[in-house]
Amino acid sequence: MFFAPLPTLVSAATILCSAVAAQEQTQRLWPAAIPLAVRSPYFSSWMNPTVDTGPPFMWASFWDGTRTLGWANYVRVDGATWLWLGRYGNASTIKEVEITPTRSIFTFQAGPMEVKVTYLSPIEPADLVSQSFPFSYMSFEASSTDGNPHAVEVYSDISGEWASGINSNLIQWNLTTTTASTYHTVLRSTLQPMTETNNIAEDSQVYLGMSSRSGLTWQTGTDTALRDSFSSTGQLANAQDPTFRAINGRDWPVFAISANLGTITSTSSPVVWCIGLVRDPSIVAWNGASSEDRHPYFKTRYQDVSSAIDAFLLNFPNARDRAVALDEKLMGEAEKVSDQYADLISFATRQTLGGLEFTTSRVADGSYDPSDLQIFMKDIGSNGQTSRMNPVEGIYAAFPALLYLNSTWAYSILLPHLKFHNGSQDGTSFVAPDLGSFPVSQSTSHQDLRGVEDTSSMLIMVYAHALYSGNGSLIARYHPLLKRWGDYLVNRTMNPANQLTADGGQAGTSVNLMLKGIVGVQAISGISQALGDSAASQMYSDQAKNFITQWRDQAMNDGHLISDIGDPQSWGLIYNTFADKLIRSNLVGQDIYDSQAAFYKQLAGDSTNLFGLPLRSSGSDARSDWTMLTASTIEDPSTRDAFIAMVHSRANYNGTLGAFPVTYSASSGNVTRGIASPAQGAVYSLLSLQLQPQAIAIPATTPDVPANRPARGLSSGAIAGVVISAVAAAASLIVAFFLWRRIRNRSATSDSEEGGPAMTPFVQVEGYPSIPPLEVAAAAPSNASSKRQQQQQWEQRSQTPSSFVPPVSQEPTSLSAYSSSTNNQLRDVVEDLRREVELMRGHTNYTYTEPPPEY
Ligand SMILES: *[C@@H]1O[C@H](CO)[C@@H](O)[C@H](O)[C@H]1NC(C)=O
Ligand SMILES: *[C@@H]1O[C@H](CO)[C@@H](O)[C@H](O)[C@H]1NC(C)=O
Ligand SMILES: *[C@@H]1O[C@H](CO)[C@@H](O)[C@H](O)[C@H]1NC(C)=O
Ligand SMILES: *[C@@H]1O[C@H](CO)[C@@H](O)[C@H](O)[C@H]1NC(C)=O
Ligand SMILES: *[C@@H]1O[C@H](CO)[C@@H](O)[C@H](O)[C@H]1NC(C)=O
Ligand SMILES: *[C@@H]1O[C@H](CO)[C@@H](O)[C@H](O)[C@H]1NC(C)=O
Ligand SMILES: *[C@@H]1O[C@H](CO)[C@@H](O)[C@H](O)[C@H]1NC(C)=O
Ligand SMILES: *[C@@H]1O[C@H](CO)[C@@H](O)[C@H](O)[C@H]1NC(C)=O
Repeated sequence: MFFAPLPTLVSAATILCSAVAAQEQTQRLWPAAIPLAVRSPYFSSWMNPTVDTGPPFMWASFWDGTRTLGWANYVRVDGATWLWLGRYGNASTIKEVEITPTRSIFTFQAGPMEVKVTYLSPIEPADLVSQSFPFSYMSFEASSTDGNPHAVEVYSDISGEWASGINSNLIQWNLTTTTASTYHTVLRSTLQPMTETNNIAEDSQVYLGMSSRSGLTWQTGTDTALRDSFSSTGQLANAQDPTFRAINGRDWPVFAISANLGTITSTSSPVVWCIGLVRDPSIVAWNGASSEDRHPYFKTRYQDVSSAIDAFLLNFPNARDRAVALDEKLMGEAEKVSDQYADLISFATRQTLGGLEFTTSRVADGSYDPSDLQIFMKDIGSNGQTSRMNPVEGIYAAFPALLYLNSTWAYSILLPHLKFHNGSQDGTSFVAPDLGSFPVSQSTSHQDLRGVEDTSSMLIMVYAHALYSGNGSLIARYHPLLKRWGDYLVNRTMNPANQLTADGGQAGTSVNLMLKGIVGVQAISGISQALGDSAASQMYSDQAKNFITQWRDQAMNDGHLISDIGDPQSWGLIYNTFADKLIRSNLVGQDIYDSQAAFYKQLAGDSTNLFGLPLRSSGSDARSDWTMLTASTIEDPSTRDAFIAMVHSRANYNGTLGAFPVTYSASSGNVTRGIASPAQGAVYSLLSLQLQPQAIAIPATTPDVPANRPARGLSSGAIAGVVISAVAAAASLIVAFFLWRRIRNRSATSDSEEGGPAMTPFVQVEGYPSIPPLEVAAAAPSNASSKRQQQQQWEQRSQTPSSFVPPVSQEPTSLSAYSSSTNNQLRDVVEDLRREVELMRGHTNYTYTEPPPEY
């Protein structure tokens, strides 16, 4: 039969933790998208059970639910072939799907064999190299259900669709066999660095591989030919298709690996494929002085992808054990709250980490610097023309997950903003909404569009990182900058002029934003305290107390918080109470928490919306991230669980395409924006509030200061070397130095302080390898000399230092096209923010199906 009956999706929570779960046939989870291989913003493949008529036998897609990613998987039992992913052939019967934080596990019946296929996208909090290697496993296990042995062969192929967003683009490929593995490499013939088409990267190298084993065969060729050939013979020809062509050229070239398992009653160990997508460089980042290429962090251990693939495949048993242990730990903690909460952790975790790039830099001798981890977030799912890099509200939302999984990650996602703003010479003292258009950030002047929102978010996160990691190096190194931000908040929180907010309100009247600004002032108080500057700490803390009194006077009506000062009937989710809890500022009194919880209980009870409460009384859209932050501050378990249930209902809704969105209609669930967004890390807010504060250690030296830089006046090392209990003399020296530094900075840059140029021109990035594109053999496929030429070109390429340097476009279009799009960036951000406000107010109704608006 071609189409399977509807799948039974069983809660992972139940399966992992209950002995009887395997018999449970009640459907609990119906997400619109099930993660397959999800490791980075450009490597994100999902199954969409709602597409077409035959769930789940369909093509995998990109996170948007619309771009097909060819991936065809078959098992052949006694000569009959059954499909478990893709559309070409006879489908097996799906029995069960389990979703955990790291894995999607499908159980199928294929003739007399029960097949278990696990898509494992590792999450490796203890090992950055493993975390940053953008590969996933697909493992296959089978056992006979009639007790008899059967002849079993398995097959997987991928198409070129992973390597470009345009199917008419030319691709090329190679097959590599090492002592440990066999893998295909697929890439565009002309890579376009730092360019994407409909969110698909145009500079990817895509891999499909398997460990060496007996019975392994492989082939490159047209899709139908390879699949038919496997179906009739159970093996492949170990042959390359010599004709490089377009992704969709002449029957779509595909890249297949198959294994003959012999005649078995069950697999003794899983058959494992790896699939990966590598971009190198992955990010161009402004580091405070210039733009630098950032490389995938795994390069610090593996010089080439080949040895990393070998290790990845060899390490599968350990990686699987670590994944199972992490899943059990996370879900075990989450179940203490509720089963629905554990489901949300399962949905959110891969999605959050799939929005991040873990990067390192190259030092002068060409090696990679293991001490330089920087994490970049893509604003996945935004409706804008370009995606923003390190959006502050996105980091703020995902921060609980990063802090909880490994606080080093929290450090490394804050660092790019600190470097960017510290290096920015425009004299601004507030935080920009983002660092530019992913994957390129550059130094720019920026206008104060959303300063209170983003400056308080950054201060709160920087302090929370120090508080829960005990690591004081960020606050020590960037104290002058942080203090500037704190002073900005003191000046602007109660008087923000006409700024935008992340909650759809206006900065001047938003009760929620005002609270965040005040908690931000308390954060700089805490930072000052940790650095031994108790005078400053006291001053900021007094300010915060003074502000919170003013806030209380204006923000309460009828026994609860309103959302907009001056509008006593307004209400909203005042989710920045989460910040008060996170940094333990104790500014919001218990009486307010209690009355607010009672009010939320009433709202939840009265609501007829299926998918949540609108973020504000004046709007119609719900936001999962801010709903989760709010839930974490509600002590009453039934009200808290009601909020969790709202988000769960949307996470588990299959009426729209695309992975778990952030912003959607509270009544219909229709997507507004944020499909597959990493902001879902906000789900971890409840767990993050269980973290224990640490004593903050201020490091004796500052590793960031280049050794060759002569110390002038007080060196940063001397500043940072002061421990918390430093003598008062040292502390006042520091204060004096900071004041001096501030004054100096101000006067040096006062010209551009008020609204500098809207945008400096794109900083042309140097250092892209300029290798001519490979000749495409299509013109003379059987010509031996042309093949030899090709081979020589491959070989030349493999002699370059990083053994597989991709050919790079000589077309001037790529960077200049980029440059023009980044020149529009500020306009985009303004438009984006405006649109967000309008959407929050329910004035417009974008859906993901509309093309991005043109500016
Ligand atoms: C969508 O979800 C509903 C439950 O809400 C379920 O009955 C239905 O089968 C699901 N459809 C698919 C295609 O998953
Ligand atoms: C699919 O099933 C039909 C009917 O059972 C059978 O004739 C056909 O050979 C099968 N196709 C493959 C590729 O196994
Ligand atoms: C967090 O990451 C760092 C850096 O990779 C590592 O040294 C540390 O062991 C990790 N901590 C945990 C708890 O896994
Ligand atoms: C292509 O594959 C062949 C055979 O494994 C190998 O010798 C060659 O180095 C590969 N080329 C590149 C560029 O990796
Ligand atoms: C921050 O910027 C100041 C002024 O340009 C500079 O002196 C300092 O070294 C920078 N700090 C770091 C940690 O880069
Ligand atoms: C603080 O964290 C950074 C980044 O992980 C690390 O390089 C540094 O050594 C840490 N400092 C201390 C004192 O642990
Ligand atoms: C305080 O904010 C006002 C605008 O509201 C601005 O004109 C002034 O320069 C700011 N002062 C400081 C010290 O930042
Ligand atoms: C949600 O989307 C569906 C399908 O596009 C549409 O029919 C419906 O009117 C939308 N509902 C709302 C409240 O926008």
